[in-house]
Amino acid sequence: MSAIESVLVENRVFPPSEATVLAARISGMPAYEAMCAEASRDFEGFWAGLARNNLVWTKPFTRTLDESNAPFFRWFDDGELNASANCLDKHMGTPVENKTAVIFESDDGNVTRTTYRELLGKVSQFANALKAEGIRKGDRVLIYMPMTLEGVVAMQACARIGATHSVVFGGFSAKALQERIIDAGAVAVITANYQMRGGRELPLKAIVDEGLAMGGCESIRTVFVYQRTPTACNMVAGRDKTFTEVLAGKSSECAAEPVGAEHPLFVLYTSGSTGKPKGVQHSTGGYLLWARLTMDWTFDLQPSDVFWCTADIGWITGHTYVAYGPLAAGATQIIFEGIPTYPNAGRFWQMIERHQCTIFYTAPTAIRSLIKAAEGDPKVHPDRSNLKTLRILGSVGEPINPEAWMWYYKNVGGERCPIVDTFWQTETGGHMITPLPGATPLVPGSCTLPLPGIMAAIVDEAGHDIPNGTGGILVVKRPWPSMIRTIWNDPERFKKSYFPEEMGGRLYLAGDGAVRSADRGYFRITGRIDDVLNVSGHRLGTMEIESALVSHTALVAEAAVVGRPDDLTGEAVCAFVVLKGQRPTGDAAKAMAKELRDWVAKEIGPIAKPKEIRFAENLPKTRSGKIMRRLLRSIAKGETVTQDTSTLENPAILDQLGQAW
Ligand code: PRX
Repeated sequence: MSAIESVLVENRVFPPSEATVLAARISGMPAYEAMCAEASRDFEGFWAGLARNNLVWTKPFTRTLDESNAPFFRWFDDGELNASANCLDKHMGTPVENKTAVIFESDDGNVTRTTYRELLGKVSQFANALKAEGIRKGDRVLIYMPMTLEGVVAMQACARIGATHSVVFGGFSAKALQERIIDAGAVAVITANYQMRGGRELPLKAIVDEGLAMGGCESIRTVFVYQRTPTACNMVAGRDKTFTEVLAGKSSECAAEPVGAEHPLFVLYTSGSTGKPKGVQHSTGGYLLWARLTMDWTFDLQPSDVFWCTADIGWITGHTYVAYGPLAAGATQIIFEGIPTYPNAGRFWQMIERHQCTIFYTAPTAIRSLIKAAEGDPKVHPDRSNLKTLRILGSVGEPINPEAWMWYYKNVGGERCPIVDTFWQTETGGHMITPLPGATPLVPGSCTLPLPGIMAAIVDEAGHDIPNGTGGILVVKRPWPSMIRTIWNDPERFKKSYFPEEMGGRLYLAGDGAVRSADRGYFRITGRIDDVLNVSGHRLGTMEIESALVSHTALVAEAAVVGRPDDLTGEAVCAFVVLKGQRPTGDAAKAMAKELRDWVAKEIGPIAKPKEIRFAENLPKTRSGKIMRRLLRSIAKGETVTQDTSTLENPAILDQLGQAW
């Protein structure tokens, strides 16, 4: 986008229509501002009221926020509740009981509907099966499931008995699984024989077997196997049990186990600045409160809505806006097993029409790839489907470029649906900075303003506020209920990563850069300021990919990974590799690059495969041996290096790297 165009785009403002404002739960900016003012006036009272009114507590809390051991904040900590009871039991005896909870569409287009009453039965029955295998409150259970109703049932069943789940995305490798099983000390794995994606049957159980065989997973006693497809898979006698087997004869009633509000509902691994993914630990009470509330606030959920979040349960978005939020709010939601381009790239639009979807929430990467597809083939353009039922659109996971925003607004939303560009993270549990559909005037590419009670700000490196219009570091100044509680097994890393002493130790550091507009104070996220990349909305650590590359000890001497902008995937992974032998060229280089890409896929998962690998005889280093990544970033972008290179030990290497690109 040219500079002039960007100025034009930023000047576009789309206020909600009068009808939208009038019908909305948070109606107009004064209503939003009043909520913010209330949170500032009586911070604890604000949250306590919401927690009392929106959750069912088996034991009411008397303490709202305990800051005595900051930054290990505790919310509602003497209260007790159960997350599954708050998603299911709560609706029994209300009009929601027989409402459709889930419309499930499989990869091949088969549709099933499940009511809240039926879902409660399934979850309870599976919870009984978990208990029968000796799984108890406080145990950790690893879930490696396809995007199916059974995946959500597995999560809810763990929550029901007080077991902490750790869901691993079905695209991660055996090695990634093994590392997470060991770190979490999981006692069981819930998986499926295969998963169906885009008409292809992909193994899951075989990957679990491989991961467990790598050793160190002796804590695993049971592997539960959902038979997703008729194809048989290897079963280890005594350890592996099919769903059919464990569910046989189990009652579909199971009392929900009350847990303390701070009890870990789940641990979800995500990438950070070092080679090892971190287990983000979430609470039960505070997390669920935010999942529930943001359904009402951000999506303005109404009883008749048909909500569809396209995220996989392996990511935080699939936790909060598939497995918990919509159920806690009593919504009807669509769960889709497949991919947006199968059998054709009109699948999303056809499904919106088929299921009369009203709120649609997806990632910019999906939008960008569907724009490209629609431009190439009018048959998959959204205008071929009737999208009149839509009333709110959402975007999540990465910055949405104004062009994609405009296309989404016009072609999917018919210029009538507000787009909520929701900024948040695995660590925040739910939305942080986002427009409210019935209040906030929209500006393409901006996530606009923080939700009430979220004290987001932009500061300099010392933690001091900086004026609007100046780029800086995004922080949150006060704790909020759904924040990360700690990094599983690593409280020190938690403190260092999120509450660094250099900034006073009390500010939550998001890891993103941001700028507020001079006129409205709207936030725009400018991207990560650490070594985390965002590729197609998937979070990857450059160090993690480097570790994977150098673990190929036979071939690789050294590697450095950086990101560069990519029109389709947002960012792309670029690896600079120094091999142990000669620097390869031509076909040999191609073959070697393929081998290393496959190696990374095996070590982490296909999503982490570098888009480009370039070989060099060395990497640009300072005299003390530090790799100068900012130079590599420029080279990856194809820019001429203009930075100061006087501290470089080996300036000549820049020529070689430059030529390589
Ligand atoms: O860089 C921000 C980007 O995604 C990061 C969080 O990734 P993850 O923990 O995987 O969670 C993704 C789903 C919530 C953030 O640090 N990000 C997320 N949403 C946005 C965003 N960047 C810009 N705009 C957004 N709406």
